[in-house]
Amino acid sequence: MRFENKVAVVTGAAQGIGEAYARALAKEGAAVVVADLNEEAGAKVAASINEDGGQAVFISCDVSSPESAQALVEQAVAELGGIDFLVNNAAIYGAMEFNLLISVDWDYYKKFMSVNLDGALVMTRAAYPEIARRGGGAVVNQSSTAAYLYSGFYGLAKAGINSLTQQLAHELGGQGIRVNAIAPGPTDTEATRTQAGDAAKDIVRNSLAIKRMGSVDDMVGALLFLLSDDASWVTGQVLAVDGGQTFRL
Ligand SMILES: NC(=O)c1ccc[n+]([C@@H]2O[C@H](COP(=O)([O-])OP(=O)(O)OC[C@H]3O[C@@H](n4cnc5c(N)ncnc54)[C@H](O)[C@@H]3O)[C@@H](O)[C@H]2O)c1
Repeated sequence: MRFENKVAVVTGAAQGIGEAYARALAKEGAAVVVADLNEEAGAKVAASINEDGGQAVFISCDVSSPESAQALVEQAVAELGGIDFLVNNAAIYGAMEFNLLISVDWDYYKKFMSVNLDGALVMTRAAYPEIARRGGGAVVNQSSTAAYLYSGFYGLAKAGINSLTQQLAHELGGQGIRVNAIAPGPTDTEATRTQAGDAAKDIVRNSLAIKRMGSVDDMVGALLFLLSDDASWVTGQVLAVDGGQTFRL
């Protein structure tokens, strides 16, 4: 129970990796805000955490909207007393359009970046004063190994997430707020099954050192470490949890 008396906001927690993050934080004693656009699935996740003996509330939120982010923070503080941790996991991923940077519809590109890159900044701007008010805490952004591979606008947004992590670590370090990122490799979620289909098998065979897809549970240990006091002098880092898909010198 590493996170008793802590409050964690997890965006994109209605399914997939975000849901696993929310459940794991609740098991460690944190009160969790399940934040998502998907109201039906998000409410189910929060209800199921409460049934399992944890504490969770669902709050509907669009991470690309500063007004929505501010409303979420106000409701979280009113219902749970404050915020210690923010996990910026939400992204357009499963239903993402396949297209090139040079041809993707401009309005789609702007919308995509407003969620997948700016969403983490929008949420952090709204939440950091509350984290600071509790004496500090931590933010974890969800990147991807796509940041290091050819993957068009998806990878561009994740490369931006990596840089945002480094920049915000410096802007918030003085207030006791650490900012890190996790870069998962191909992870078995419903969204990946939609997105990659059979291609996932080739990726595993050809580019991973450990010859299996990642699971949502593979990501959880990294998240809990980065939020915990074990990582109290770790900030501005991007931790690849990817079966050896990438290496950087
Ligand atoms: N699954 C993988 O293989 C993989 C690999 C690397 C990185 N990632 C990243 O991990 C994260 C989660 O991946 P996943 O496979 O669980 O994806 P997913 O599509 O299952 O989950 C994303 C969640 O974000 C929510 N969301 C989308 N737009 C939103 C918005 N504007 N505001 C609030 N919520 C919104 C969706 O409703 C959904 O619940 C994403 O950031 C993704 O880019 C995934």
